[in-house]
Amino acid sequence: MHKILFILGTRPEIIKLAPVIMAVENEGMKPVVLHTGQHREIAEEMFRVFKINPDIRLDVMRENQTLFSVSSRILEKLEPVFADCRYSMTVVQGDTTSAFLGALSGYYTKTPVAHVEAGLRSNDKFSPFPEEGNRRLAGSLTDLHFPPTELSRKNLLKEGIQPNNIHVTGNTVIDALFWALKLPYQPSEKLKTIYDSAKRLILVTSHRRESFGEPQRRVFRALYEIVQNYSEVEILFPVHPNPNVRREVADILENHPRIHLCAPLGYLDFIHAMEKSEIIMSDSGGVQEEAPSLKKPVLVLRDVTERPEGLESGALKLVGTDGEKIFAECEKLLESPAEYSAMTRNPNPYGDGRAAFRIAKSIKLFLSE
Ligand code: UD1
Ligand code: UDP
Repeated sequence: MHKILFILGTRPEIIKLAPVIMAVENEGMKPVVLHTGQHREIAEEMFRVFKINPDIRLDVMRENQTLFSVSSRILEKLEPVFADCRYSMTVVQGDTTSAFLGALSGYYTKTPVAHVEAGLRSNDKFSPFPEEGNRRLAGSLTDLHFPPTELSRKNLLKEGIQPNNIHVTGNTVIDALFWALKLPYQPSEKLKTIYDSAKRLILVTSHRRESFGEPQRRVFRALYEIVQNYSEVEILFPVHPNPNVRREVADILENHPRIHLCAPLGYLDFIHAMEKSEIIMSDSGGVQEEAPSLKKPVLVLRDVTERPEGLESGALKLVGTDGEKIFAECEKLLESPAEYSAMTRNPNPYGDGRAAFRIAKSIKLFLSE
């Protein structure tokens, strides 16, 4: 039986690979899940939801880790994993340090590499940073590329990847979302109180490294201005555990009665919070892909995005980190039903919920050739 090694490390990789792990098993192969431990508690929460018990854990996370330190710990701990066992394929997802180093370790051991969510490009190597670099590097070591959209396929073709090694699949985040929306769900008392009292809810997330410091402070000051100017608006902001984010959030947004700061939400809590919100403001990649399925507009807190399909469909709007622009675009959504409808009426360009099935089929075919 083919053993397929899934190397993952962060919250979004778990969400986006969970459906692939299930699909690979359904196709009669043996998934082996390796958690680098790049994320700790927010990863554990995702494993619980998707009922994944990692076979191998590397436990690399440290408080406020640097790119150098987390990378060297991951790479060092991956070597014995490949020495212990031969895998038919290594699967990585996206653009994290774990994904890049997972692909690198596959390459070093001559294990074929499959890259899920391949081919997204912002064409700015420092935004998102270091994700644009990580995704390109992972792609350059990959044997089987799974871009979610036609546009991401074209990016790979432009870089000289052979067409028969590329399969457009849709994004597996949609598979995960559809699966999770069917699960029974009860919000906590705290969330229920917010949903009951909030007249107009804005959901916020922010964690990009390139925004740390003044850009992020501008975003948070704009959020404060929005609640000050709109007495019917409340903000729910699950704060990423990165200490750089937590510090700034606490400085600017703590202690406002209509700004609800909380720890990262579990996946079910988060997707239901998206559903309950009127507007989403986020620099998250996954949130940009999920929100259009829930018909929620996303003001993207970034200057560039590697997800232009959402801009084109109208579901996303780039607002960067300029406080005035953020305020103005939020105001439009709050005040103009036409603006709101323009961002919420089109279908989701990121997939139909069957991406994982297509990926598993392609892996099986690749291994049988
Ligand atoms: C990482 C990814 C980013 C992805 C994001 C998803 C890299 C370089 N960055 O960014 O692409 O969008 O995950 O969330 O791969 N921490 C905890 N507990 C946790 C997780 C993180 O305390 O469960 C704190 C730690 O202090 C850690 C810090 O957050 O050192 C940063 O974690 P890291 O994975 O390096 O970067 P992220 O900003 O989470
Ligand atoms: N998410 C979650 N709880 C939160 C915030 C996000 O479950 O408090 C989920 C969200 O639904 C999405 C994923 O985490 O699927 C996005 O992860 P993140 O924003 O950390 O990373 P990115 O997608 O930017 O790489």
